[in-house]
Amino acid sequence: MDLGIKDKVFIITGGAKGIGRAIALTMVAEGARPVILDKDDQAGAQLVREIKEAGGHSIFLKVDLTEYDQCLDAVNFAVNHYQRLDGLLNNAGINDNVGLEKGNPEAFEKSLQLNLMHYYNMAHLCLPHLKKTKGVILNTSSKTAVTGQGGTSGYVCAKAGILGLTRDWAAELIPYGIRVNAMVPAEVWTPLYEWWVGTFPDPQAKKELIASKIPFGKRFTTPQEIADMAVFLVSARASHITGEHVYVDGGYTHLDRALT
Ligand SMILES: NC(=O)c1ccc[n+]([C@@H]2O[C@H](COP(=O)([O-])OP(=O)(O)OC[C@H]3O[C@@H](n4cnc5c(N)ncnc54)[C@H](O)[C@@H]3O)[C@@H](O)[C@H]2O)c1
Repeated sequence: MDLGIKDKVFIITGGAKGIGRAIALTMVAEGARPVILDKDDQAGAQLVREIKEAGGHSIFLKVDLTEYDQCLDAVNFAVNHYQRLDGLLNNAGINDNVGLEKGNPEAFEKSLQLNLMHYYNMAHLCLPHLKKTKGVILNTSSKTAVTGQGGTSGYVCAKAGILGLTRDWAAELIPYGIRVNAMVPAEVWTPLYEWWVGTFPDPQAKKELIASKIPFGKRFTTPQEIADMAVFLVSARASHITGEHVYVDGGYTHLDRALT
């Protein structure tokens, strides 16, 4: 199936590792040109090298997404460089365990900065360019937005907010022909997940316990499985899909617990 994204330009936040990295590589395989925004410059530079060696095109920009001016500079640089912008993939986030008991108002606000505010800021900055191309926005939420997790108020609030913003932007941007969707992963084995599991006393046992609860295959979702959905959703093949929350989770969120 030709996804029709050859030579199209997509900004991916948090694109240097994990899910964002898989999305960048999958886009390149389809001939698209990812602009990778991330604070991890080593991982970003390594990824761009890999893409170049494979004959693809991409750029990496070191950006702390919590800094509005850095986001502004990055969007301007990307558009000047490629002279177009076809999509924004708001993907960066971190499950930072800022809860009610183990947390405080400052930490909660910081968690929203890390997980929510830059989704709005990036969409706001990209919108004038997306209007020209009838582009697309894809946001990454989390199943915790609808299930809760306990002890991570900031992250869950942000991820639920992202689902709300997805619907609101989808409605607002209909006149411009801009589609907006969200992906909702549950358990995807990435550097972020590895870090989070490492916060438990027995990380391996925790990993196995979680895998045993995932109905389809009793295994984690792979970053590639998320990337395949992402690239489909931003492509013209998904031309009548907007305002959707798409779960790529092996049935984790919705299937009967009796299955596990
Ligand atoms: N891994 C999972 O199981 C899972 C489940 C549900 C949702 N998600 C969501 O998927 C998205 C990607 O997660 P992942 O598991 O690939 O994470 P990851 O940590 O493996 O990769 C995220 C990347 O984003 C970058 N990043 C994070 N905050 C940043 C900031 N403020 N400025 C610049 N760069 C920043 C990191 O440097 C990293 O390279 C996140 O929004 C996460 O909440 C992941």
